[in-house]
Amino acid sequence: MMTTTTTSTLTPAAPLTVNHLSLSFGGNRVLQDIDLSVQPGEITGLIGPNGAGKTSFFNCLTGLYSPQEGSICLGLQHIERIPPTGRAALGFSRSFQHVALCPELTVAENVMIGLDRQSHAGWLSAFLALPQGNAERAANRERALGALTRLGVAEVADEYPAQLPPGVLRLVEIARAIAGQPRVLLLDEPAAGLNSVETRDLSNVLLKLRSPDLVLLVVEHDMDLIMEVCDRIHVLNGGRLLASGTPAQIQVNPEVVRVYLGDEDE
Ligand SMILES: Nc1ncnc2c1ncn2[C@@H]1O[C@H](COP(=O)(O)OP(=O)(O)O)[C@@H](O)[C@H]1O
Ligand SMILES: [Mg+2]
Repeated sequence: MMTTTTTSTLTPAAPLTVNHLSLSFGGNRVLQDIDLSVQPGEITGLIGPNGAGKTSFFNCLTGLYSPQEGSICLGLQHIERIPPTGRAALGFSRSFQHVALCPELTVAENVMIGLDRQSHAGWLSAFLALPQGNAERAANRERALGALTRLGVAEVADEYPAQLPPGVLRLVEIARAIAGQPRVLLLDEPAAGLNSVETRDLSNVLLKLRSPDLVLLVVEHDMDLIMEVCDRIHVLNGGRLLASGTPAQIQVNPEVVRVYLGDEDE
């Protein structure tokens, strides 16, 4: 009898927990004493005004920034001293606030870059068509097509980014981020620059990505989108965690309302 091995059986779902996380650059305290936990199987929103520290928080999670204080755990494993490559190998993946597809590569090739961290031959040898790279390149292309199919954009696999509208490009970026079957997926403002139809497509994609094996954290300014798709929301303001709760709780939280109406005293 055949047995199937999936990533999830090898690496069981685990929450991402942050305790007492603080980050500063010189005298600028960007994140202050952040405590929060993000559960697999849910969509978690991270919202807050510009400069609140949302992208910096993602950078701390992926290892790009080194917080001066605090711990970050995936399940029971402390990861705060693991460098970015090691965190990628553990299953951390992200999309960026600004479109970051390589214009010289097709959509499928762009998504295959997302498989780099798991590649044995390495993407360079695969692209140079070295012998050990050929089989791997074929396998990676299949996985890339699988990710594009999941996001409903497989038909553009062999097109170049310059030919495609922003909504499709955004889905391609997310396909690249999920191609390696991450355990932690961080999306930084996925709806930025999208029209209302594209935002609706994105919202459906996010709901489809929700999975018991995945910690999914979304930074977003589009409140309709966040309130619609999120199970739980954390609000950052001035580097501090202002509130956490369900969309219904966050919408009526007086402090959150005050921050979003922009009348907070500085
Ligand atoms: N590499 C850096 N060096 C110095 N300051 C930074 C750096 N990255 C972020 N910051 C500062 O951290 C604060 C939060 O920025 P950011 O995390 O980008 O906020 P958000 O994503 O919520 O808009 C800003 O004041 C920004 O200038
Ligand atoms: Mg940001």
